[in-house]
Amino acid sequence: MKETPKSLSPTARVLMGPGPSPTAPSVYEALAKPTLGHLDPEFLLVMDEIRDMQRAVMGTQNELTMPMSGTGSSGMETCLVNLIEPGDKVLVGVNGVFGTRMVDVARRAGAQVTEAQSEWGRALDAELLREAAGGEQHKLVCVVHAETSTGVLQDVGPIREVADELGAMLLLDCVTSVGGLRVSLDEWGVDAAYSGTQKCLGCPPGLSPVSFSERAQSALKAREHAVQSWYLDLTMIANYWGSERSYHHTAPINMLYGLHEALRLVLEEGIDEREARHRLHSAALVAGLEAMGLSPRVPEGERLPPLTAVSVPDGVDDAAARAHLLEHHNLEIGGGLGPMKGNTWRIGLMGAGACRENVELCLTALHDAMSAQGAAPAGDGVSAAQAVYSE
Ligand SMILES: Cc1ncc(COP(=O)(O)O)c(C=O)c1O
Repeated sequence: MKETPKSLSPTARVLMGPGPSPTAPSVYEALAKPTLGHLDPEFLLVMDEIRDMQRAVMGTQNELTMPMSGTGSSGMETCLVNLIEPGDKVLVGVNGVFGTRMVDVARRAGAQVTEAQSEWGRALDAELLREAAGGEQHKLVCVVHAETSTGVLQDVGPIREVADELGAMLLLDCVTSVGGLRVSLDEWGVDAAYSGTQKCLGCPPGLSPVSFSERAQSALKAREHAVQSWYLDLTMIANYWGSERSYHHTAPINMLYGLHEALRLVLEEGIDEREARHRLHSAALVAGLEAMGLSPRVPEGERLPPLTAVSVPDGVDDAAARAHLLEHHNLEIGGGLGPMKGNTWRIGLMGAGACRENVELCLTALHDAMSAQGAAPAGDGVSAAQAVYSE
């Protein structure tokens, strides 16, 4: 290396993609607080508060509730490797990228996986899962509550019914719902769930809150084989987060300060109030997009408020438009994945980013980006959004 690089000074982008979302200012401040030792009595109190707040935000009394060190995928992997033993039958509802990822992880953990493949951009139909299971008993049924790859919100009740018929535990991916929508793990009968810090919790990526019901804990205790992953083995990690406080790996102290503050902000605002805020700004955004002639990819009753997927209009180049937003408006939105690549924009309104200023900026900037390609929208998106706010 010729010269030591300068200290970083990244641009403060307006993050309106599928995550990471904007970090709340007080979360940034929390991240910069003095690092304590991972067994310092003061830090142990921080851990206890995180667990209590996480339970409140995930709607559970589960004892085994804590954040895993790693992004949302580490939570997914934690749930799957701790609950699956070689040969176990696992049924996964697949209607997007993250259901597909669960299939991959479950197979690697040695499960016999049945995939209930469903249309991307639509919620899973419980009947489809029932048919795919073919009446056989299963250990685990897995679905995504908030499919960030398509913008679909899944109703959990009918899936729990299928799991009951199959004698199965229910695993729920709540990466994009926790902190933005009310999540009620106990009421819904969810046995294992994971989330991520970088979506509606408004914290940088790096931790994955997880929770296991008593039934899932019993399954963990009854295992015949060691958990396939040392790093994610909850039989050991629970001893650090529980009363024993025994060392497993060095906890990411400052990231946990950030999560502490992010959870505090959710509870201070109120979960229902926070959901109402996400829903309001999403409604305004959708009204604006529709006024500009952009069609939502998901039918109204199945839409995920923190993430809106819309079709890229004919004659508009997806990548060029997103590059224009970044270059001229300092704004990031997401492109599509899988079958939606090149034809879909994914617009996130998550955590601190779910606000009127972002909705209006996004509509104005998209108008400009489309006009720059000679495809100016006919309607005025900002006025349509403003009409929603004044209702
Ligand atoms: C629904 C869902 N599940 C899982 C993940 C994986 O999380 P990560 O990328 O933080 O590992 C994501 C990330 O976007 C997600 O949206």
